[in-house]
Amino acid sequence: MNTNTTTTSLRAKSVPRGERPAAYVVDPAAARRQVWLELASGGTGLILALFMWGHMFLVGSILTGEAGFNWVAHMLEEYFIAQPTVAFILLAFIIHAITAGRKVPAQLKERKVMRDLGRDLNAFGKGFPGMARGDARFQPHLESILWIWQLRTGLIIIILGSFHLLLIGADVFRATMEGGLGIEAVRSMDRVGGGLWMVYAILLICVEFHASIGLYRLAIKWGFGARLGRHTLHRIEQVLLWLFLGLGVVVLAVLAGWLPAPLEFLLKG
Ligand code: HEM
Repeated sequence: MNTNTTTTSLRAKSVPRGERPAAYVVDPAAARRQVWLELASGGTGLILALFMWGHMFLVGSILTGEAGFNWVAHMLEEYFIAQPTVAFILLAFIIHAITAGRKVPAQLKERKVMRDLGRDLNAFGKGFPGMARGDARFQPHLESILWIWQLRTGLIIIILGSFHLLLIGADVFRATMEGGLGIEAVRSMDRVGGGLWMVYAILLICVEFHASIGLYRLAIKWGFGARLGRHTLHRIEQVLLWLFLGLGVVVLAVLAGWLPAPLEFLLKG
């Protein structure tokens, strides 16, 4: 599916029209460039996925009530941890979008092929002529389906994630310039409860899916989990996905004011 590597680092020797190329020549400079781009997209992807776990615990402080959330936010802003973090995550986000985005099919024709491929793979997964549903002899191509969904969720994250980062960045930097605090429980709860929950719900689902599949693919690509095997890695990926998605939904419901903070008793002396 990643056509870039083949089109830029492997070039077919010129062959007469109608004949198949007998051999490919490797362009070392283009191949080296692809490795650097892979390292940049994988490295920033890893940083962002790890950040999102930390982010879940920071925003999750709302589970201990407004006082707990404000204490964490105030501490991060007063000690100038929040300001450079916002700038660093924004930079990592942009680098990741550009370097990983080079794999997005650029032309309408390629996108249509990808859409049809996704539809066919999905349809095949639901049954195959002459075979009973769930027949072990036929398995849909899980890896390709995951790749297609990673790409789709990535495109949604670029739009909604940029909006969120700019919103939070504006809060934090305005407060740094004018005094006061940028991140506060009342403001966050007001806007989430006031309708922004819809944006965050979509972003949450896309981020958790994209990050867990991304880590799974990184482990396979760079051989980190070679000893564990694909099956075990896939199980770990599913546990992480559902764990963080479940936690994220509870955090979102408390932020929106639909659920009382379940851990508030911890801060009541
Ligand atoms: C340093 C950077 C970041 C900071 C300081 C930050 C801070 C916050 C804060 C304060 C909230 C509460 C809602 C609000 O006030 O609007 C929130 C919610 C959220 N943020 Fe971020 N955020 C950052 C980066 C990101 C990134 C990169 C993503 C994903 C692309 C993201 C995804 C979310 C989601 C999905 C929620 C909803 C709460 C949930 O259920 O987890 N954030 N964030």
